[in-house]
Amino acid sequence: MKALILSGGKGTRLRPITYTRAKQLLPLANKPVLFYAIESILAAGILDIGIIIGDTGQAIQSEIGDGSFWGSNVRITYILQKEPLGLAHAIQTAKSFLGNSAFIMYLGDNIIEENITPFVAAFEQNHDQCNCQIFLKPVSNPREFGIAEVFENSSDCTLYVKKLVEKPQHPDSNMALVGIYLFDASIFHAVDEIYPSQRGELEITDAIQWLIDHRYIVRAYKLQGYWIDTGKMEDILEANRLVLNKLQTNISENTYIDSKSQLQGNIVIQRGAEIRNSVIRGPAIIGEYAHLENTYIGPFTSVYHNVVICNSEIEHSIILEHCSIYDLPFRIENSLIGRNVKIHASSIKPRAYKFMLGDHSDLGLL
Ligand code: TTP
Repeated sequence: MKALILSGGKGTRLRPITYTRAKQLLPLANKPVLFYAIESILAAGILDIGIIIGDTGQAIQSEIGDGSFWGSNVRITYILQKEPLGLAHAIQTAKSFLGNSAFIMYLGDNIIEENITPFVAAFEQNHDQCNCQIFLKPVSNPREFGIAEVFENSSDCTLYVKKLVEKPQHPDSNMALVGIYLFDASIFHAVDEIYPSQRGELEITDAIQWLIDHRYIVRAYKLQGYWIDTGKMEDILEANRLVLNKLQTNISENTYIDSKSQLQGNIVIQRGAEIRNSVIRGPAIIGEYAHLENTYIGPFTSVYHNVVICNSEIEHSIILEHCSIYDLPFRIENSLIGRNVKIHASSIKPRAYKFMLGDHSDLGLL
């Protein structure tokens, strides 16, 4: 079995962050989203991983490397998709890497709670009885997702897929396709037969529908745990919250926390961090060499490496590396703050907001 992780794409919904960073490298609890996909695949025993990359490929390659970070037997191959022409197009692009192998396809910006190991093992053992397995999760806004209609085989309670529609206008079901799929080589026939959709992409829903229409067997499984597609800011914050919720307290040895500071709840403090006269209410993580002074960090906050925060309050947010935040009169909440951002109160008159914001910035002022 092989794995194909999709980490190309445009990431338009996460601009301006994605002008300078691959969305798959955004950290949840200070670990890139993509690491969660890789680690869940490795835990299922798959060591041969292809990663589809696009414009942000260089950053992804330098962060992930050749896989040796996870072990000498892990092999990572990068596959360039010149244009993000759809998930089914990514499969076509990876054809020579995948060969005739069955494979798991994992969207590099998706995160799930459930362990995929039993599904991978079952698919590997029984894939003469099943050509494709998808995962489903009920959603409240089915018009924004690929949606599946399923039926249950009463003899063994297995779910089979009847119909798939990408972002239906009039949805007949609220079961959304999670960004994790198991395929055998029959998917290559499908991706070669379908045509681009109205938005110009080869849609994975059309490819799987082609399998169904040509009597291949497509099964479905309803995920029990959480699933987040971190394509939008609110989703990243939600994923960060869910991951932080599972955090166990861990204070690295070479950190400095003065006696006036209070740590409440589950908190990770990474090496070299310095905390003075501050309150941190977990779950929260403070990155390497971060410096906090006279500051409140509230629940569900990830402060990344080398961030400086003084005289300020932050809650339910992700702050990326090398930010500095000083003397804010109001609390920052529900925010995703990119790298090297400076936010500070200024004593220079006139008393006014002074901004330098990139295209597509989103600012909420009091
Ligand atoms: P999407 O979130 O559907 O697309 P996108 O990344 O272009 O984002 P946006 O809609 O905000 O512009 O992609 C899901 C995942 O699949 C993501 O990790 C990017 C990846 N992908 C590819 O690798 N190749 C592709 O052709 C597409 C469409 C997505």
